Amino acid sequence: MALRATVKSLAGGVGREQCIRMLSVSSAKQASWWTDVEMGPPDAILGVTEAFKKDSNPNKINLGVGAYRDDNGKPFVLASVRKAEELIASQKLDKEYLGIGGLADFTKASAKLALGADSEVLQSGRSITVQGISGTGSLRIGANFLQKFFPGNKVIYLPSPSWGNHTPIFKHAGVDVKAYRYYDKNTCGFDEAGALEDIANIPKKSIIMLHACAHNPTGVDPKPDQWKALSKVIKERELFPFFDMAYQGFASGNTDRDAGALRQFIQDGHNVCLSQSFAKNMGLYGERVGAFSLICQDADEAKRCESQLKIIIRPMYSNPPVNGARIASTIMNTPDLNTVWLDELKVMSGRIITMREQLVANLQKEGSTRNWQHITDQIGMFCFTGIGPDQVAKMTKDFSVYLTKDGRISVAGISSKNNAYLAHAMHEVTK
Ligand SMILES: Cc1ncc(COP(=O)(O)O)c(C=O)c1O
Repeated sequence: MALRATVKSLAGGVGREQCIRMLSVSSAKQASWWTDVEMGPPDAILGVTEAFKKDSNPNKINLGVGAYRDDNGKPFVLASVRKAEELIASQKLDKEYLGIGGLADFTKASAKLALGADSEVLQSGRSITVQGISGTGSLRIGANFLQKFFPGNKVIYLPSPSWGNHTPIFKHAGVDVKAYRYYDKNTCGFDEAGALEDIANIPKKSIIMLHACAHNPTGVDPKPDQWKALSKVIKERELFPFFDMAYQGFASGNTDRDAGALRQFIQDGHNVCLSQSFAKNMGLYGERVGAFSLICQDADEAKRCESQLKIIIRPMYSNPPVNGARIASTIMNTPDLNTVWLDELKVMSGRIITMREQLVANLQKEGSTRNWQHITDQIGMFCFTGIGPDQVAKMTKDFSVYLTKDGRISVAGISSKNNAYLAHAMHEVTK
């Protein structure tokens, strides 16, 4: 079409030589492989940050970011991480490739952290853990493994809503995605009845996604009794649970408590799989440290699955990066450093919990009569405020407070300095 138009526009006027030259330039342009590639939509969360950067209001707040900030709004590098880095540097280690499954000291410690030091699974050797590229890469290893080997319905049921990346991770791996009710808009809490009803109707032998703790984006976690009820119905439906644990220790400040749901399921006889991320709980975001584990029937099955996991990983990225895994491994395997880290987890999660409490108190000071209890009932980095899309737009336009349209705020973006201003903005748009 474009070529014909060029010929037409050249008809009359220009000389023959020039016409040929112009046509050859035009046909060279035509030769591009990517003319049919359409512009994709921008990432919803990165879009919030872009708009925030352009805003000149000195009171502006970015509540879109999914990374911890200290009370001055600055990125936070853990003292345990700095110390581990020093220890690693002093050893003058080489930079050779890791094995396909990653750093053994790291994967062993990750499994122990998740399952508990006295875990029967670890003692019997009926699990396999491979290093992954943070939580996302670990989820992707799991998704590819399930696509290839899951003997039931290759469909994963996600809580509604779920972390935005879950759907593309599983779809790109060829696993179909459906949903079960999880969040109750009326209470801004867990829709226990809805979840149990939907799960009871999932076709048998399907896959179900469970956020181990600090559910993203809602901050809503089931209570221990509700986890037991979920475990029971999931067992009855013979579903395969996929636990995503991106916030162990970051939710309550206690790594054992945050692994409670996962351990409950294993105790109830579920052979689950698990993705872990060390982005939030060790602040190792850009180091991309994670792990994928599969709990099997026995050690022989685990060995066979391990061989297949390696076959999946090898053509994806050959072997994982070494630096972050060394840091995480050094922290977990050095008793003194491990103690420092566990204390730092309490500091980070404690600051988040305090910000939630202060926000509710400040909303009351503003004179808000709405029930904001869900802000303190929810846990972890994110809070589903219950604020609708029009109110979100008003918060951004009138107060330079940036958050995603679904009303999710990253509590990590709140500090003792901007808490009252945020409460003021929230009250103004909701009163
Ligand atoms: C629920 C959930 N899973 C997995 C991840 C993975 O993150 P990363 O790949 O940075 O470890 C995140 C991060 O936001 C998350 O919230």
